[in-house]
Amino acid sequence: MAASRTRLIVKTAVITLLTAGGIAAAGGYTVYQAGWYDIGASTQHLQPVYSLLEQAMHNSVRHHAKTIVTPSLGDPAQLRRGAGLYREHCAQCHGGPAAPPSAHGQSMQPVPGPLVDAAARWKPRELYWITRHGIKMSGMPAWELRLGEADTWAVVAFLNRLPDLDAAGYRTLAANDVAAAPDSSQASAVTGGNATGGALLRGDAGRGKKIIGQYACQSCHTIPGVTGSEVDVGRPLKGLARRPVIAGRLAPTQDNLIAWIRNPQAIDPRAAMPAMGVTESDARDISAYLLSK
Ligand code: HEC
Ligand code: HEC
Repeated sequence: MAASRTRLIVKTAVITLLTAGGIAAAGGYTVYQAGWYDIGASTQHLQPVYSLLEQAMHNSVRHHAKTIVTPSLGDPAQLRRGAGLYREHCAQCHGGPAAPPSAHGQSMQPVPGPLVDAAARWKPRELYWITRHGIKMSGMPAWELRLGEADTWAVVAFLNRLPDLDAAGYRTLAANDVAAAPDSSQASAVTGGNATGGALLRGDAGRGKKIIGQYACQSCHTIPGVTGSEVDVGRPLKGLARRPVIAGRLAPTQDNLIAWIRNPQAIDPRAAMPAMGVTESDARDISAYLLSK
């Protein structure tokens, strides 16, 4: 008797849960398909959506930054460098003491916001991770190719100091002009493992695939293995090694591809493809990937 009642309760509970789940999924699909959720940046997310995304971001950063070892931070030279780098690369979106963010920093969604309280919410290794990797779908860029290891820690040291700075303190500390030095330690070791058509490719194709996204190549080209929309501003970058010519005039060698990627106008003054500021070693890795596809 008792056993059959328990069975009935379990059965009712399962049916209720499945029905509720089905209704929620159907509702969600309708909202998605009809386009009712306002994707525009001129309105805010609904608070529950915002809170869910924010918590997911926090959880992800904490998880990914767990094993990073923090060096000692805060000597005066490092702080000055960090402040200068912050003014150059971060203040246009995040602002600073008595320094407003630019028009685009003010009207992005989510709003970048001031970082005066960031050190209270994030450990140094988490600030390092955010700065290095950025935040998907938010407008926070990844700096791993533009700021070297030491410079990234300098920015983190500055963020830790930011809560103590008034407008004058910030202006003084950030007064120095700095040129960001890309991290030479990231230059990939020469590897001989990637053979195409009998020729050995220099560079690290795996790293090349990863950094293509940070030079925005996939915004104009459809590239095998790289996530993006189907675009055809430039031709799909597929099978380059098997083409008779690339870029309309070059034999498909690695050196030619590197030269093209770094400076298309030096090869064809009428080329529409912009020079994306790709370093020599990054171009080597990217070309190794493209020639292997
Ligand atoms: C193009 C605009 C832009 C630039 C430039 C930029 N950021 Fe951001 N940043 C954002 C946006 C957007 C967010 C996401 C805010 C959110 O999710 O609430 C963000 C978030 C952050 C966060 C997490 C903030 C928090 O309170 O949780 C940190 C830390 C950060 N940025 C550091 C930096 C540093 C350091 C630099 C410079 C090296 C920088 N950002 C440059 C747009 C920018
Ligand atoms: C703003 C759009 C744009 C971006 C960004 C861009 N390209 Fe291009 N790319 C083009 C166009 C357009 C062409 C065709 C030649 C021309 O007119 O410039 C081209 C041509 C090429 C070619 C020759 C293709 C062929 O079929 O012969 C290669 C290789 C190439 N791009 C690689 C890259 C790489 C790698 C990146 C990232 C570092 C990149 N492109 C970024 C627009 C772009």
